[in-house]
Amino acid sequence: MAAQAHDFHSVADRLGPSLLRCRLHAQANLRARLVHQGEGPLAVERVIPVDRIIAKILAISGFAARGRANCLDIRTVTREQPLANLPAAFDGFRLLHITDLHLDCVEGFTGRLIDLIGRTPHDLAVITGDFADHAAGYFHDCLGDIRRIAAALGPGALAILGNHDIIEIVPHLEEAGFRVLLNENTAIERDGQKLWIAGTDDPHFYRTHDFEAARRGIPQGACSILLTHTPEVYDEARHYGFNFMLCGHTHGGQICLPGGFALVRNGRCPPAQFAGAWTHHGLHGYTSRGTGSCGVPARFNCPPEITVHVLRRRV
Ligand SMILES: [Fe+2]
Repeated sequence: MAAQAHDFHSVADRLGPSLLRCRLHAQANLRARLVHQGEGPLAVERVIPVDRIIAKILAISGFAARGRANCLDIRTVTREQPLANLPAAFDGFRLLHITDLHLDCVEGFTGRLIDLIGRTPHDLAVITGDFADHAAGYFHDCLGDIRRIAAALGPGALAILGNHDIIEIVPHLEEAGFRVLLNENTAIERDGQKLWIAGTDDPHFYRTHDFEAARRGIPQGACSILLTHTPEVYDEARHYGFNFMLCGHTHGGQICLPGGFALVRNGRCPPAQFAGAWTHHGLHGYTSRGTGSCGVPARFNCPPEITVHVLRRRV
């Protein structure tokens, strides 16, 4: 189904004129440069085709097939997340966290993911960005997969944008069935009680996130979960009163030494926030290793994951 022109006007209104201008300017620059975003510590990505070099090394060394198989070996991580102010009706609520799909990177990925979703009971699904893999955000080849994943998740799934997602993808995501949070929030209701979910635009490359707008309307002291693409903003986010932050972006390094030591880090954050669960000045967080794979269709010592966060009321 083609996106209607009026849908984009509504997206523009939701993001606001200043942030929209920033985003469109950065998107145009990125397309003109035709190189990787290169905003991490390995900024050399901007001028050297690192992904292609790594892919070549894997092909020559005979590790490419194993690396690709590892990308399809998606693990289900189930963990409990205690939250002090969780309403009683949400004790045991299962939040399925999927992130960094990069749908045009690894052949066969979407089928594996849909199979796994079908075997993973959950109450709410969220996707924290990076639907496409192309560095400039070209997403049209991914639309069929996006619709299949949305259908597998069913109504009510929430999504935010990552640094590989251009703003034009939003109407397509919403037509597929996702509710996209563009510095916005929504309340999930159970037995008259509310759990608030807020989501920002991409804070990594486009930097068009707005925590204050995402927080607007959430009552003081209410339990709230923040969806934001990267852990790099963990310290900024803690000032806005969210209780639990879900993010991805780092892929846990994707290609790691035994023990999970990342060879390449694409985000400026401490090791504690790079992968897994963390707490920072009262803000609980979880950085997923990612469900898909970025750039190079290979993973080593860093399996992809979907994550089920079982929320628990801490009394
Ligand atoms: Fe990302």
